Amino acid sequence: MKEKLTKDFIRIYGEGTETTAFFSPGRVNLIGEHTDYNGGHVFPCALTIGTYGIARKRTDKKLCFYSMNFESVGVIEASLDQIVYKKEYQWANYMLGVIKTLLDKGHVIDSGMEILIFGNIPNSSGLSSSASIEVLAAFIAKTFFGLTLDFVEIAKLAQKSENEFIGVNCGIMDQFAIAMGKKNHAIFLDTADLSYEYAPIELNGAKLVIASSNKKRGLGESKYNERRSECEAALEKLKTVCNINALGDLTEEEFEANKAVIGDETKTRRAKHAVYENVRTVRAVEALQKNNIALFGELMNASHVSLRDDYEVTGIELDTLVETAWEQSGVIGSRMTGAGFGGCTVSIVKEENIPSFIEMVGKVYKEKIGYEADFYVVEIGDGPCVL
Ligand code: GLA
Repeated sequence: MKEKLTKDFIRIYGEGTETTAFFSPGRVNLIGEHTDYNGGHVFPCALTIGTYGIARKRTDKKLCFYSMNFESVGVIEASLDQIVYKKEYQWANYMLGVIKTLLDKGHVIDSGMEILIFGNIPNSSGLSSSASIEVLAAFIAKTFFGLTLDFVEIAKLAQKSENEFIGVNCGIMDQFAIAMGKKNHAIFLDTADLSYEYAPIELNGAKLVIASSNKKRGLGESKYNERRSECEAALEKLKTVCNINALGDLTEEEFEANKAVIGDETKTRRAKHAVYENVRTVRAVEALQKNNIALFGELMNASHVSLRDDYEVTGIELDTLVETAWEQSGVIGSRMTGAGFGGCTVSIVKEENIPSFIEMVGKVYKEKIGYEADFYVVEIGDGPCVL
């Protein structure tokens, strides 16, 4: 990959000083969905698929970006002296936002760069291709300009850029999972204080299978922000009777005893999901630590039901993938992963059953939805690196 992309780089930008090759992973969340902006726990892991980058410094202040995934767009050019969000910068906004956020924080980036990227994360699959690009940009800048930045700071900074420069009000999970990824481990992260633990993922002869719904996302972002504000409104009401900072501070019992104060059926269900999903995530990690993969799988299934019925972020595509997965032999657990409204599902499937799983779930999906789903058997990988 490195050799091929380096050749592409020279074809696009011409010969010159030496290039450096980088990689930044994608991520999948195993359990703990829509809890990261509610002060709860998440349990994501980085993948061995992600975004490759070839880069070198320039002597002037020009920033040049080229993606092998969008070749027809050509080279996107901007200047280090004045970085603003522009629609025509397209995907490069993810990198520009991070560079601007670094500069605003006082980091010194004193020359332009030429960057070529290639991502092998399926497009709009919900495996965080954007966070992967953001973390890649921060990592390239750190490497080239000797920035004093650890990986937690990279995650925070990339999230800040996504919130403020891109305008998506996401939580910290994606950027954290990518920046802090560790091979064969998931990250048990408490988003209330960013304390975390690595948990080995040993699935006793089973593997993670991602199914991408290929649904075009439409209203996804606005619905995401809507869910956030529903949770915030429920929290405000609960704060009048409970001494809490976030929904993630509540036990299920405390929630049940105090939920009447929310006074709105929909918001009560949204908050219920946030509280129960957080507790479920803690239980799931405990189950895994006791090597109880079956219980982990049941909790994944329960997570999907809650996201479907209480949080309402699934839709017919993700429900079809998950509900069909539940009927297949060798499936330990299956749920939607990421923001929802399209995107993909994650299933734990015994290795010997993977071919029939893909065939059956794929067939039912095509019949019911009218177009194909794509399947990926994935491995858990490390965070960003120089290749
Ligand atoms: C998206 C966001 C994350 C998180 C998930 C839902 O991936 O970027 O911060 O909120 O949705 O769990």
